[in-house]
Parts: sequence; C-alpha cells; structure tokens
Amino acid sequence: MNLQLDSEYWNDRYLNNEFGWDIGYVSTPLKNYIDVLTDKNLKILIPGAGNSYEAEYLFNLGFKNVYLCDYAEEPLKNFLERVPNFPKKQLLQVDFFELEGHKFDLVLEQTFFCAITPMLRTQYFEKMSEILNEKGILAGVLFNDVLNTDKPPYGGNQLLYYSYFKKLFQIKVFEKCYHSVPARAGRELFMILQKH
Ligand SMILES: C[S@@+](CC[C@H](N)C(=O)[O-])C[C@H]1O[C@@H](n2cnc3c(N)ncnc32)[C@H](O)[C@@H]1O
Repeated sequence: MNLQLDSEYWNDRYLNNEFGWDIGYVSTPLKNYIDVLTDKNLKILIPGAGNSYEAEYLFNLGFKNVYLCDYAEEPLKNFLERVPNFPKKQLLQVDFFELEGHKFDLVLEQTFFCAITPMLRTQYFEKMSEILNEKGILAGVLFNDVLNTDKPPYGGNQLLYYSYFKKLFQIKVFEKCYHSVPARAGRELFMILQKH
C-alpha cells in the first residue's frame, strides 16, 4: 500500500472520527514533564499537535508562548473551540518540514514522529535542530515497539532512533517511559534531548 500521508489524509481521519491515537486528555508523561517547568516564558512548539490537550494544559498553566503546528485544519479548529482565548497567530497550519520564521526553546513530541513516513526521520531531527535555539530541548515520547511498516503508526526502538539524532542532540534522558497512559504502557521511551 502506498499511502499519501498529506494534510488531506490526516484531516479526513479527524472528519471521519478515525483518530484512535487521541487520548482525550494531557498525557501523563508530558504532564509530568510540564509540571516541573518553571520558566513560563519558554517558547514552546507542539508539532503534529492534533487536538493537543498538552497545549491546552500549558496555556491554562500560564505558558503563553506556546505554538501548535499541524497541517490539518480540523484539529486546530477543535482546539480553538476548547481554548478560544488562545492566540490565533500561535496556531501554525503548515507542514512541519516547511516551518519558518520561528525559533523555540522547547519542542514537545507525542505521536507525531510515529505518524511521519520513516523516510523522513533524519529530516525530522534536522528540522528540530534547525528550529531550536542553542541548547534548546526536544522532549517527549517515542514508541518503543515494532508497530506498522505500511501505515502510521510506524515503530522503532532506542538504538534505531539514536542513529537518527546522535550527531545533532545530546541525550539528557532517553529511557523506558514509566508513566505512559495505560494503552501505551511498556511501549514508550521518554526523551529529553538537547541540541548541540
Ligand atoms: C497521530 S496524530 C497525533 C496528534 C497529537 N500529537 C496527539 O497526540 O493526539 C499526527 C498528527 O500530525 C499531523 N501531521 C502529520 N504530518 C505532518 C506534517 N508534516 N506537518 C504538520 N502536521 C503533520 C497530522 O495532521 C496529525 O494531526
């Protein structure tokens, strides 16, 4: 099967209620990470944000410099309905790989990496490095599971992922995730990577 993974594909998934990845609340690994952040001025990006309960959580905690990137319109509309005060200019409806004009202190990953074709994985980390400020952080969860080879979610493991980012990022934390949501328990890695 040769899937065309584009904005239309993803937007249709939302329109057809086929979004099984959406847990409906801020995920525990990201919540735990967010809960110890002290600098409310951090410029934070959530790429492949979807309905982004994490962005909602951050915004309600007082992090006002939060940006969402998703090239599908539907989840951004859903997000604005839930968080009407969120600044529209911080909703970036663009292809992550074409994102320009912004630099971030922190990027939060959750089920975006597994949604892109594995052919783009090196580019994913290159783009992360490009859009992060010096010493910026890429944090979040990656699947530690085989998953699919012909459609998202695409899986992988620690060694494989390390091969993609080793030249660009220093590992602060990269280990089994111990506080995944139940459906993902034992199948995730938690990472905190710092741009070289
Ligand atoms: C599996 S969903 C995950 C959504 C969200 N992170 C979550 O945890 O619920 C993947 C999301 O990434 C978006 N996406 C995929 N490729 C993208 C790209 N190249 N640029 C921007 N968004 C993209 C899709 O539209 C979709 O909303």
